[in-house]
Amino acid sequence: MSEIRIGKSEDKEAIQRIYEVVVGSQANHDEARWDRLIERGGLVVATEEGRIVGFGGIDVRAADQVKWLYLLPQHQGAGLGSELLRRLESIGWEAGLDSLRVHSAPGAVNFYRGHGYRLVETTGQMDHDHEGVEMMKERP
Ligand SMILES: CC(C)(COP(=O)(O)OP(=O)(O)OC[C@H]1O[C@@H](n2cnc3c(N)ncnc32)[C@H](O)[C@@H]1OP(=O)(O)O)[C@@H](O)C(=O)NCCC(=O)NCCS
Repeated sequence: MSEIRIGKSEDKEAIQRIYEVVVGSQANHDEARWDRLIERGGLVVATEEGRIVGFGGIDVRAADQVKWLYLLPQHQGAGLGSELLRRLESIGWEAGLDSLRVHSAPGAVNFYRGHGYRLVETTGQMDHDHEGVEMMKERP
């Protein structure tokens, strides 16, 4: 059985492992960023039989709010990414945001498009750990 829930400090190790598996050798993450998001209730995990198989984040104060939507390869394509994204979006809308931005990896553009995001020009300087394009969705 799968579940989508808010991430906790104890989940950090599992999240870090997934991050390394999905991002690969260039994985380089400042742990304090997980902590900050967990503290604010902005980290969401997907579990399968109680085991964390994916996660995503939302930082409602950032310029590009949706962060790291990552699922273990064997759990991709089964709808979990969509469920995670819907949960992240509802956190954003409940916080009063009128739009959401994401720095999408090239391979995920169609996924976000299917969820109502469109390509937009990059504004300002954003720090990212992967190649990608900027996408945006207005509050429905
Ligand atoms: C991108 C990702 C989060 C999507 O989650 P997922 O659980 O695999 O996607 P879902 O099963 O919810 O798919 C939802 C829809 O998007 C489509 N889709 C999913 N991944 C896609 C992709 N890479 N390219 C094109 N379409 C994709 C599916 O076909 C599906 O369409 P449908 O509803 O019409 O059948 C996941 O595949 C992943 O972790 N990928 C690797 C890491 C990555 O690129 N993350 C994004 C960083 S910004």
